[in-house]
Amino acid sequence: MRSTLVPSRIRNLDLPPFDPLNRRAAELRAAGRRVISLGQAVPFFAPPPSALAAARAALDTPEVHRYATDPGLPSLRTLLAERLAETTRADAAADDLVITAGGNHAFALALTTLVDPGSEVILPAPYFTNHQMMVVALGATAIEAPVGDRTTFAVRWSDLEPHVTPRTKAIVLCNPSNPTGAPVEAQEGSRIVREAAGRDVVVISDETYMQFVYDGAHWSAASVAHWRRNVVVIGTFSKSFGMMGWRVGYMLADASVCEQAIKVQDAMIICAPVVSQMAAEAAVRESWGYAASFHGELRRRRRVLADGLADISRLRWTPTRGGLFAFVHVEGCTDSTRLSHELIERAYLVTIPGASFGSSGEGSLRLSYGYADADDLTEATQRLARFFRSA
Ligand SMILES: Cc1ncc(COP(=O)(O)O)c(C=O)c1O
Repeated sequence: MRSTLVPSRIRNLDLPPFDPLNRRAAELRAAGRRVISLGQAVPFFAPPPSALAAARAALDTPEVHRYATDPGLPSLRTLLAERLAETTRADAAADDLVITAGGNHAFALALTTLVDPGSEVILPAPYFTNHQMMVVALGATAIEAPVGDRTTFAVRWSDLEPHVTPRTKAIVLCNPSNPTGAPVEAQEGSRIVREAAGRDVVVISDETYMQFVYDGAHWSAASVAHWRRNVVVIGTFSKSFGMMGWRVGYMLADASVCEQAIKVQDAMIICAPVVSQMAAEAAVRESWGYAASFHGELRRRRRVLADGLADISRLRWTPTRGGLFAFVHVEGCTDSTRLSHELIERAYLVTIPGASFGSSGEGSLRLSYGYADADDLTEATQRLARFFRSA
């Protein structure tokens, strides 16, 4: 089939640069180079033993081989609602949850359920690339709203308000943010939810990194008293429990919205993988604080990275409170894609160009400290220092 049969809105989408960069890293490794990847948006730890044991036991049950009900296992939804209520003060019940095949699927489900093609969706930027891609794939328009504070990257209502039009259907928060690691601060977040509600605008809050806030507490959009009016929270087991390959996440929204969403869920995937739901349930029951047990190590890595970067005069980064990322401004850089390619060829470092997170990300690089350990981070910053000395 000719690719011109594919609509231009899909042909014009850019695939994030991870695959080509990882392929090049693999080639260089095969040629004997010691490549360090700061590219991966993943934590270093394996799933908790509770999840692995539950998955093994699940294989011996007949239910695991069948479809679950569309919204997911009732026992998982009940337990998850309780945990979210305890830890984020989200007033949630089982009927407010749909278990999905990961966070990205939950986002696609929320958008398909709530956003009309042709309407506008505001993305505070730098944004998570997959958010922009999904909005465009659905036939809606992604509106980039650059975050004004380029030090903390904390999103404010005043960053978003100028972009609101009568066509605005949704605002997407990424809290904490991929790619900046900045959490949404409680006061501004509540204001955004309130202002959006007053305009009948939905707030889709991607809280994938909710368990990765190192200083202070995570603020959830579902902790706002009237969240049911206009908030959808996206969550996932991928990062909090090191379960990326299990493809299990959730959408939290008022039960009346979930009731509509499960029609889309049924048409898309029927239900999330059952073995993964069983593993996730054990993780929620027995290991809810699992990610927090790695905070000490993640803080240490963040410090090592910050110290190393501080010695490089062209680079500027003020550590953010969460996520797995440093969004580093590179003085004088106007082509971060080229810079990333130079870094892999000359310093054997995988970095992600800031431009892949929207035009307001140009001139920066995203470095992840989720996977590389402290020794690798030290070595990486030494390589960066040598690279920028000779650049
Ligand atoms: C902000 C954000 N949302 C969603 C996802 C996708 O997660 P999942 O594996 O649950 O689909 C990621 C993955 O990197 C992410 O960074």
